[in-house]
Amino acid sequence: MDGGADGAVTLRPVRESDLDLLEALTNDPDTAGEYQWFGWHDPGYLRRRWHDNGMLTTDGGMLVPTLGERPLGMVSWHRTRTGPHTYCWNIGMVLLPEARGHGLGTEAQRQLVRYLFAHTQFNRVEASTEAGNRAEERSLQKAGFTREGILRGFDFRDGQWRDHVLYAVVRSDLASDDGTGRA
Ligand SMILES: CC(C)(COP(=O)(O)OP(=O)(O)OC[C@H]1O[C@@H](n2cnc3c(N)ncnc32)[C@H](O)[C@@H]1OP(=O)(O)O)[C@@H](O)C(=O)NCCC(=O)NCCS
Repeated sequence: MDGGADGAVTLRPVRESDLDLLEALTNDPDTAGEYQWFGWHDPGYLRRRWHDNGMLTTDGGMLVPTLGERPLGMVSWHRTRTGPHTYCWNIGMVLLPEARGHGLGTEAQRQLVRYLFAHTQFNRVEASTEAGNRAEERSLQKAGFTREGILRGFDFRDGQWRDHVLYAVVRSDLASDDGTGRA
């Protein structure tokens, strides 16, 4: 799977036809993969969110990266408080297993950062990933994120507290970007 014949990766809002795929990415251990399996959750949750607001609110959202017409997975973001009057975005992403390892997730994360800086005023986009998730660490580095440090004992998953590695991009890191925010 590559970007050649089908064009480039683009981000678009979630469609009703994506909901089974999103459900598998978050509620099926094999599809979620080693670092994204957190146990079963309410299977109607994503469908209800989609019916409520299309998964796009002022506090966060979800988009589907596509290659041509083909959905590849999802990117998401949520608002995180950084001070009494300030916030940043925290982002996450999961690709379908067959889409991993072709640079598509890196391009989707790069585009999500541009999109968030273009359409909101926040100054910082951060992402943390479990220590050991080398693919996501490398992908964030390639997408322009800077490694900021270790969050010890940050996340409980599969019977253990896990360290995370924190990455972020601030607006000034992208000074040479074209600023279109087109995803
Ligand atoms: C993490 C993820 C989003 C990255 O997107 P991607 O399109 O697969 O990433 P890319 O193909 O651009 O690059 C991955 C990089 O990691 C490297 N990599 C992949 N697996 C690796 C491993 N096990 N050890 C070390 N490096 C690895 C690749 O070599 C590549 O680096 P390179 O371009 O320098 O060779 C995607 O793989 C995914 O969805 N994984 C499962 C879910 C997940 O872990 N999400 C992140 C949660 S925080």
